[in-house]
Amino acid sequence: MDLLDQINKENVPYHVAIIMDGNGRWAKLKGKPRVFGHKNGVKSVRETIKAAGNAGVKALTLYAFSTENWNRPKAEVKTLMALFLTSLKSEVKELIKNNIKFQIIGDQESLTKSVLKGLNKVIEQTKNNDALTLTIALSYGSREEIVNSFKNISKKIVNKELSIEEIDENIINNHLYTFTLPDVDLMIRTSGEKRISNFLLWQIAYAELHFTNVLWPDFTKNDFYNAILEYQNRERRFGKTGEQIKTTNEI
Ligand code: FPP
Repeated sequence: MDLLDQINKENVPYHVAIIMDGNGRWAKLKGKPRVFGHKNGVKSVRETIKAAGNAGVKALTLYAFSTENWNRPKAEVKTLMALFLTSLKSEVKELIKNNIKFQIIGDQESLTKSVLKGLNKVIEQTKNNDALTLTIALSYGSREEIVNSFKNISKKIVNKELSIEEIDENIINNHLYTFTLPDVDLMIRTSGEKRISNFLLWQIAYAELHFTNVLWPDFTKNDFYNAILEYQNRERRFGKTGEQIKTTNEI
């Protein structure tokens, strides 16, 4: 059964972020090397992008590679980078056909020139698309992002382009890698781990969190729809009382 029909199209999370976890364990369960899990994870990425589009999600942000992931065995890192590039190359037509804008967030300086070149080509080819913004977090760490924003804000203060009094939440937002995106509404993590692992710490201030035991290569469109259905059953209060929320909704 397809759970898409059960989704209330009036209350779809605008921005969904996913920590795609469990590729290594999935492969191990099958007696295969870790990279086998990553390769099969690409299928789930494809299916999830499609599901997000069908549900009416406008922004999907996927945690593909963290700043800490550079410490993994060299061969795994190399395979992952190659996998990002080949998947992107084989999917670019689909992205264009489905009006999907592709972008990346993270510490671009640590990526190799060839990876950056491949990514930038697709960013350029899809920059005017607006049905869904697909953001891949690559060499991304939330603390690194915040440090980077502090540096850029400080430079502006030194150059007198900005005063200390002007610093507010908007200014900080505008200096994060995610400056084009609104806050996250729903964050999903697969594989049963219940932590955030340095992903979008600032942006999830009021996000609903959904944890599932499904390992990423097994994650299907119905798992995605199920997360949205759970989101729709929650009451988002943003610090207000339940009563206040009901009154605002009735107006
Ligand atoms: C986490 O599983 C997954 C990753 C570090 C990589 C995610 C990459 C993909 C899903 C491949 C394709 C991605 C794109 C964007 C085309 P893990 O290795 O940490 O698994 P474990 O916790 O079981 O070891």
